Parts: sequence; C-alpha cells; structure tokens
Amino acid sequence: MSNQCNCGGIIKENDPRFAELKGFIDSLVGTKGKTMPVLQEAQKIFGFLPIEVQKFIANELEIPLSEVYGVSTFYSQFNLEPKGIHKISVCLGTACYVKGSQAVLDKLADELEVEVGETTADGVFTLEATRCLGCCGLAPVMMIDDEVYGKLEDISVIPEIIEKYYNQRLPK
Ligand code: FES
Repeated sequence: MSNQCNCGGIIKENDPRFAELKGFIDSLVGTKGKTMPVLQEAQKIFGFLPIEVQKFIANELEIPLSEVYGVSTFYSQFNLEPKGIHKISVCLGTACYVKGSQAVLDKLADELEVEVGETTADGVFTLEATRCLGCCGLAPVMMIDDEVYGKLEDISVIPEIIEKYYNQRLPK
C-alpha cells in the first residue's frame, strides 16, 4: 500500500512515522477521548492527514474509519491535503471585494496554476480565500504567512511579490 500525494512525497506502509505515531497512541493507554489528540499528533508528524494515516488511526484506536474521517473533516485545524510552505490568504471580505480582491485571487491562481484551496505542485504555496483580515483600510488585501500586502488594486505587482518568496529559498 502506498499513497502518492501531490507534494511529491510518498507515504508507505513501512514509513517510520507510523511507528512514531503508534508510540504516541500506546502512551495514551487507559485515557478516554483519544481521537483528537491522536489526530493532532498525526498531523504534527505527517503534516496532513491522508487516508492511509486515517486508516492507521482507525485500526489502532479500534474505531470506524468513518469516525476518524468525520472528526478530520469537521475541525478546520486538520488538513486532508498537504499544505505549502507559504500560505497565501486573499481577503474576500466586503471592503476588499469591492476594491477588486477577486482579481487578486484570480491573478494568483493564474500565476501559481492552482485553484483556491490547492497547493502548488512544488509544495511552496497554498492559495486560500478568507474573510475580513481586519485591515480594511488597506483593501484589497492579501496575507502571505504573517505578512500583510495591501492596496493591491494594481495586480501587476503580484508576480514580483511571489518571486520574492521563491528567491528566499535560493541558497545564499
Ligand atoms: S474586508 Fe478585507 S481586510 Fe476587511
């Protein structure tokens, strides 16, 4: 059994991270309500919760896979898909929307060749749409990780901003 994920990684049955997760599960013997802490730990270990990891957890906790899947999809803290190194959040709140944030989002999707909610094939960026980020005076706004980029009416600046993050990754 193996799972090819779109970040280019492969999670195999004998991946040592399963043993690490099993160690954590074993440390919880006798405790109640294990599902949440186990999913949190699994996400910490694997970075996301692919179906192979969910199956492993269901098996170890002796609960139905549907229960593991239900919890994983209910809480937004859990990612079923791998996330990029940088998260781009484009505000689609009212103030940003009327100032053209949809065009910002479209430009990013175009530049990065992803749909909203997806991660680039190289695993560098995840593109997301979000509600008001609390800095409407700078509309239209996007955030990359913790950095705010405002007044993006001129979407031609976007490739340059993205490039900056790629350049950060180049060896000095
Ligand atoms: S609506 Fe975009 S920051 Fe408030």
